Amino acid sequence: MSKIKIFGATMMAVAAMVATSCKDKRSTGWQYAPNMYEHIAYEYDQKNDNFKDGKTSQLPPAGTIPVGFTRFDYPNTRAGYDQASVEVKNMLAQTQANYAEGKNLYEHFCSPCHGLTGQGDGTVVQHGYPAPPSYSKGTSSRGGGMKDLTDGKIYHTITYGVNSMGSYASQLAPEERWKVIMYVHHLQTL
Ligand code: HEC
Repeated sequence: MSKIKIFGATMMAVAAMVATSCKDKRSTGWQYAPNMYEHIAYEYDQKNDNFKDGKTSQLPPAGTIPVGFTRFDYPNTRAGYDQASVEVKNMLAQTQANYAEGKNLYEHFCSPCHGLTGQGDGTVVQHGYPAPPSYSKGTSSRGGGMKDLTDGKIYHTITYGVNSMGSYASQLAPEERWKVIMYVHHLQTL
């Protein structure tokens, strides 16, 4: 077969493909790397026969947690607070570095109300915000001296807040809360 014939046959084939792909007005025609458009993975809102309810988007099975998530199974109730007090302990190493970071975090997130030395005399309190009790001399609104607040009670408070103090769960990761707690324990002795 001559070169011209091969060329001719190729051109015919290409023309036929172009013609067929243009027949349907909604067709995208030839696609380069079609996996980019029609990928193998399911879209979250796509029908999916692999599951009983036929949906791709599934709720996570009960009891599962996202990667990197730290559980805190104590509800925002008085009972949860009391139970955390007994069961939840700081597992972070009591190092100078952790303590120093706790001090830094405390000064940024807590001192505006609690004051640099934890006496409940921070800047916003001086401008009229309700004063928190002193960590060393005050009394907790939930009973007992502030100086006796346990790891679990303080962790519960940072996580959920209490009365006019909001939750700091979105500002402080669990490990950071524990560092702050190391520093609060120091303030309880002042
Ligand atoms: C916007 C002001 C404000 C900020 C900021 C704040 N607190 Fe408080 N905090 C309060 C007030 C007010 C109370 C007293 C609430 C009550 O018992 O009615 C309180 C109470 C507490 C208590 C006592 C809880 C108890 O069981 O009685 C702890 C512990 C505490 N805060 C820790 C922290 C820590 C740690 C931070 C920083 C991460 C922080 N707070 C940031 C206002 C604040």
